Amino acid sequence: MARQNIFDNDIFFDGYSKIRERKNNANELFEKPALFSLLPPLEGKTVIDLGCGYGEHCMEYVRRGAAKVVGIDISEKMLAVAKSENSHPKITYLHMAMEDISSIKERFDMAVSSLAIHYVEDYQTLVHDVHELLKDNGLFVFSQEHPMNTCFSEGDRWTRDENGRKLHANISNYCVEKEWESTWFVDHVKKYHRMFSTILNTLIDSGFMIEKMIEPTTTAEILEAHPEHADLLHKPYFLLVRARKVN
Ligand SMILES: C[S@@+](CC[C@H](N)C(=O)[O-])C[C@H]1O[C@@H](n2cnc3c(N)ncnc32)[C@H](O)[C@@H]1O
Repeated sequence: MARQNIFDNDIFFDGYSKIRERKNNANELFEKPALFSLLPPLEGKTVIDLGCGYGEHCMEYVRRGAAKVVGIDISEKMLAVAKSENSHPKITYLHMAMEDISSIKERFDMAVSSLAIHYVEDYQTLVHDVHELLKDNGLFVFSQEHPMNTCFSEGDRWTRDENGRKLHANISNYCVEKEWESTWFVDHVKKYHRMFSTILNTLIDSGFMIEKMIEPTTTAEILEAHPEHADLLHKPYFLLVRARKVN
């Protein structure tokens, strides 16, 4: 199966880094608070972070008391930032693709993945491998781009009025599960679209129980400071799931 390492592309990496430096970025305002709200108490727990990027989340898990955190990522550039900015004796960073986690023999209390799973083609195998990585009763907590956003193929994502104001979102090909290429800093960024039901049923069929889902939206307070996030009144950016290994 195809594997993409777009974060090691220089232009992509620079563009992505600039977005993450902005205080009002969607990760800080919406994704991280939602993800962290799904975490159990981490005191003494072992955690693996799949697609750990800069390692910011790994540090947060240590701050919350985790005994050991392993962060894996396919991108050497992202891991270089993680190692220079978010090193800690309790964190180990591994240069590894999520597609290869079946080679890890250790078992963890929790697997977390933040905004990385939509880059993986074979979701079913990934979910199976995560299930194997977990101890009994372990938790899998992840965020991904919302399926309403991963399905779009071409054209404007919005229907607008004569002044360019967004009236409603355009959704097409929601029921076509496949690789979609988009332009995000560079052309040909590959993401894998799966329907909401596929995302959930694959977890259930693999032995997980869904405990909670979040589709973070905005508040009047955030909109006052960051009106650009009014898009969230029409459709979510992210989907977050907390699933427990039950059998
Ligand atoms: C949008 S970034 C998120 C980084 C980090 N989780 C965070 O939220 O700050 C996605 C990360 O997933 C990594 N990634 C993408 N595909 C991957 C794969 N197949 N295996 C491992 N990591 C992957 C990328 O290199 C990148 O660091």
